[in-house]
Amino acid sequence: MARSTKTLLAAAMFALLPLAAQAQGQAQQPALPEGAGKMLADGMCTMCHRTNLITGSSGYTREGWKELIATMLDLSGAPNEAATLTEYLATNFPPNTRRTPKLVSGPNEITFTEWTMPTLGQRSRDPMQAEDGTIWWSGQFGNLIGHLDPKTGAMKEYLLPENSNPHTVELDNLGRPWYTGNKNGSVGMVDPATGKATVYKMPDPAAKDPHTMKFDKNNVMFFSAQNSQMIGRLDPKTGDIKLVKTAPRSQPYGVKIDAEGNPWVSCNGRPCLYKVNPDTLELTEYKLPEGSTVRRLDIAEDGMIWYVNSSLGRLGRLDPKTGEVKEWPSPSGPKSHPYAIAIVDGIVWYNESFQRPDALVRFDPKAESFQSWAIPSGNVHAGHVRHMRGTREGNLLIHQSSSNRIIQVTPKRRQAEAR
Ligand code: HEC
Repeated sequence: MARSTKTLLAAAMFALLPLAAQAQGQAQQPALPEGAGKMLADGMCTMCHRTNLITGSSGYTREGWKELIATMLDLSGAPNEAATLTEYLATNFPPNTRRTPKLVSGPNEITFTEWTMPTLGQRSRDPMQAEDGTIWWSGQFGNLIGHLDPKTGAMKEYLLPENSNPHTVELDNLGRPWYTGNKNGSVGMVDPATGKATVYKMPDPAAKDPHTMKFDKNNVMFFSAQNSQMIGRLDPKTGDIKLVKTAPRSQPYGVKIDAEGNPWVSCNGRPCLYKVNPDTLELTEYKLPEGSTVRRLDIAEDGMIWYVNSSLGRLGRLDPKTGEVKEWPSPSGPKSHPYAIAIVDGIVWYNESFQRPDALVRFDPKAESFQSWAIPSGNVHAGHVRHMRGTREGNLLIHQSSSNRIIQVTPKRRQAEAR
């Protein structure tokens, strides 16, 4: 339900009027409790998402709600309404421990560097480092991609063609930022100099929701379309797009390319990983344990496929040569919903997205040891990581989707390693 920045602001102002009409379309979401701020919350807090995010949240103090709301809506022009709303939320949804992670201590140190993105409530996500050290990200609900210079903190946002709702941003081998038009069946590339997007529509209208993409050595793009049950290939040189169907309800999701140039795609709907033939798009299915669903995967230097077993709360590894699977329970348990994953300098990083704070987990494959940290987002713990990637310096780029943050994780190199 994304809108442009202007529409979002207009809608926010509109929502300040007590309008029963605002409540339409809210039938399938949990009803908010009665109280002085209910009407305001029903109006303003359902423009971008359903009320279940509020009722299922980890709750906040008055100050916490104030800070969190300010990352989604600008209520500075309506101080009375803002006070009523904050009071209402703090009274009905105080802090709870339902989602507290089980953090694992250990010897490794990391630091977090946070940036708050300009457009509020944009669902900032998927940061990726460019060769010059700058960072691109996508703001899915804000219909934008953004560009951050971490040295100066300068940021620029590029609005995309209407209803693109970019699920991700990915740089190709020439350093050009591409996005998936998750809501309008397209993929596109933005020229940073002009801000203009070159748009490639899907040749089949059934390919509705391009999701995650990755470029191979030849600068050919491979992408997933989760709810369309498709995997696709785009050659930017010719604009030619080829699509292939995956199994029913497989929900193709994460995409990575192995050293031989074969794309791998994880299934978010059934227990499988796909290996894709880059020329024919023929799929080879690798079975995972019953009940598994996998948001994302990454491939280690030794060729092992690492994945998050999201539905069963485990970290997994597939040996593509033998098909052998090994899994480790995630520290916060079977409901922790591991989500994003990246291998940096041989270390596996992922997050436990159900937990609040969202937990960043470090797994050392040699020692088979875990360590984890609470991911900050200002003074509130809100949102989670949906996609993470390493940087050239061996750092990790993550984000918090609810609180409008892009975050860099810098591991402290130990003395011996630094030499
Ligand atoms: C401009 C869009 C927008 C509006 C309006 C908005 N939100 Fe959000 N909110 C978001 C986004 C984006 C997320 C992250 C959703 C995700 O990642 O799936 C989010 C997530 C949340 C969460 C989940 C926090 C967590 O644990 O991760 C809560 C709670 C929340 N919003 C409360 C509110 C309340 C209360 C209001 C009304 C005052 C509101 N939102 C209005 C964009 C918005």
